[in-house]
Amino acid sequence: MADPRVLLTRRWPEAVEKAVQARFETVLNESDKPMSQAELARAMDEFDVLCPTVSDRIDAEVIAGGDRVKLIANYGVGFDHIDIEAAKAKGIAVTNTPGVLTDATADIAMTLLLMAARRAGEGERELRAGKWSGWRPTHLIGSSLKGKTLGLVAFGRIGVATARRAHHGFGMKIAYYARREADAAVAEKLGATFYPDLNGLLGASDFVSLHVPGGPETANLIDATALAAMKPGSYLINTARGGVVDHAALAEALRSGHLAGAGLDVYPAEPEVPSELLGLESVVLLPHLGSATVETRTAMGMKALANAVAWTEGRELPDRVA
Ligand code: DGY
Repeated sequence: MADPRVLLTRRWPEAVEKAVQARFETVLNESDKPMSQAELARAMDEFDVLCPTVSDRIDAEVIAGGDRVKLIANYGVGFDHIDIEAAKAKGIAVTNTPGVLTDATADIAMTLLLMAARRAGEGERELRAGKWSGWRPTHLIGSSLKGKTLGLVAFGRIGVATARRAHHGFGMKIAYYARREADAAVAEKLGATFYPDLNGLLGASDFVSLHVPGGPETANLIDATALAAMKPGSYLINTARGGVVDHAALAEALRSGHLAGAGLDVYPAEPEVPSELLGLESVVLLPHLGSATVETRTAMGMKALANAVAWTEGRELPDRVA
């Protein structure tokens, strides 16, 4: 194929932008501002390959915007921001970037878990505000991790990587809820207990970490009823997708003291953060940093590029999701 045109909807790390530019006629979004729905729709007629990110909404209307794009090579592993059925209906292939985000995202899950358990956000805010009055035995006492149960909601790549860190690094017990039992060798190494029922896991865990994909199937999975099923004094960690949690119900569970704390990296309508959480000291709020290491963000771009190259060469797409 002659000179496929590729659009990167946001700036990528320089090394991968250069690699894409070396292979394709590439248009960069120099401003790095999110593109409008109308601009994305127009792009469907102007490019062969569209490389969006989680900050773009590639809905049916955008996809209907033109006939030229034949591959959506998503820069990211989650693809709930892309209307897969609409893409399939137009014969557009969709790929993602699995595997390369696993360690970075598991690291952020542990960061949130530790920050929430040890009240690190509260402490830092207090210190910077000049309100720290000095060491005292009762100051900002948190929870230790050793011997506590970490319940993973879904036990895929990132869930397992989080469990490894928690178990081997911090002496936590591991439990998980999933559609089916994990590979026996993986579960055995972690001493992981399987819960076929979500509420069973929630009631047995001191810390709950979410690792399900986003989308309609998991929307508000952690609602008021699920939060009520969590152990009193437990913690909720979310590095998956914001839509998985009912944030009004979470704020209430934190305000009432039913939950001791929470750590969130993702929100339903990013970059908006549910306002009811902003004033709560017991929740740690990060701005979707799960994959934000230079190594990971570079590897994500290289994966998207590899998919675009495979498509251009008529080869099987390494990370096809549709
Ligand atoms: C993804 O790739 O889905 C992540 O959320 C981006 O960090």
